[in-house]
Amino acid sequence: MHTWHILMSLLSRILNFPWITIRNQTSHPWYLRRGILQTNLFAWFTIMRGRGGGTESALSYPQLVRIHPCTEKFFLFWKVIGLRYSSLFTGCGTRVNKVPASTLERISGGQYAESGDWPWQASLQQNGVHRCGATLISNTWLVTAAHCFRRANSPRAWTASFGTSLRSAKKKRNIYRIIVHENYANNILSHDYDIAVVQLTPSVPFTNDVHRVCLPEASQDFPENTSCYVTGWGALRDDGSSVNDLRQTEVKIIGNEICNRPEVYNGVIRPGMLCAGYLEGGRDACQGDSGGPLVTPDSRGLWYLVGIVSWGDECAKRNKPGVYTRVTAYRDWIAEKTGL
Ligand SMILES: *[C@@H]1O[C@H](CO)[C@@H](O)[C@H](O)[C@H]1NC(C)=O
Ligand SMILES: *[C@@H]1O[C@H](CO)[C@@H](O)[C@H](O)[C@H]1NC(C)=O
Repeated sequence: MHTWHILMSLLSRILNFPWITIRNQTSHPWYLRRGILQTNLFAWFTIMRGRGGGTESALSYPQLVRIHPCTEKFFLFWKVIGLRYSSLFTGCGTRVNKVPASTLERISGGQYAESGDWPWQASLQQNGVHRCGATLISNTWLVTAAHCFRRANSPRAWTASFGTSLRSAKKKRNIYRIIVHENYANNILSHDYDIAVVQLTPSVPFTNDVHRVCLPEASQDFPENTSCYVTGWGALRDDGSSVNDLRQTEVKIIGNEICNRPEVYNGVIRPGMLCAGYLEGGRDACQGDSGGPLVTPDSRGLWYLVGIVSWGDECAKRNKPGVYTRVTAYRDWIAEKTGL
């Protein structure tokens, strides 16, 4: 977006095309604030940038500015397409294809994902075989579950692939480094500290199909009943095998207090864990989804990583919802390891 602004302002200076004329310079808020005023297209950009990060435009000041009809059309284009498109290269958690998938396919109660729906989803593969999901949090870092590396933690054995199809991946990357949480106990009974970060080599450029998710602040709260999506190539039922096309399912956050009830997980849910699903069963993550993302959109439609698929008692069973690593609990750890 930044480069775009500079380019356009240079262009407008050269062409000096009166796309926007300031009518009353002295009363313009930007003018008043900065004590300078630039005209034509450059003024338009400074107005856009000066006010609320570009969402409020010169269109909000009809009494101050006169706008060329072409510019007006471009404004609309920019508002609808441009802002979203430009955020692809700088922002996080954006999806280009926001139309919900229409083909209902059962997978532990979910549906097929469409290309570009979950651009942060990665597949971690051991010698070319899908083992775990992972989530892109920058051009070089993935976050996943520690238990994925229980048997093999040498980066050389692993690769990451992007895109909704495992067989025809959009991009593939080697793994440079795997950092498993220091406190993760490498045994099957412990699920605490089930988090790892993985560094890719080389980095992946962001596109419509490959893009990072937003990381929440450590203080962010995702209340009970918040609707989230979990995605993965995992099994459709307990003990099933992985699938080729990415699937998604909607689940709701279940409070730790409810999840610790005797008939549910009877006290084993720790503060660093989060339950999501339905106590009546039916929709859940399953084997092969491990390490993958549980995400929810904020009010602006930007998607945040809430959880990492960690464990569960079988799949989609009554009173046994999926258990996730609570990302906010490890937000500082992620920052410490990745600088993000
Ligand atoms: C310009 O705006 C100022 C402040 O709002 C106002 O006092 C002034 O009359 C305006 N001038 C013209 C020419 O409209
Ligand atoms: C969550 O949903 C359940 C079932 O619909 C309801 O009983 C419960 O009160 C809700 N909790 C909150 C905090 O809204």
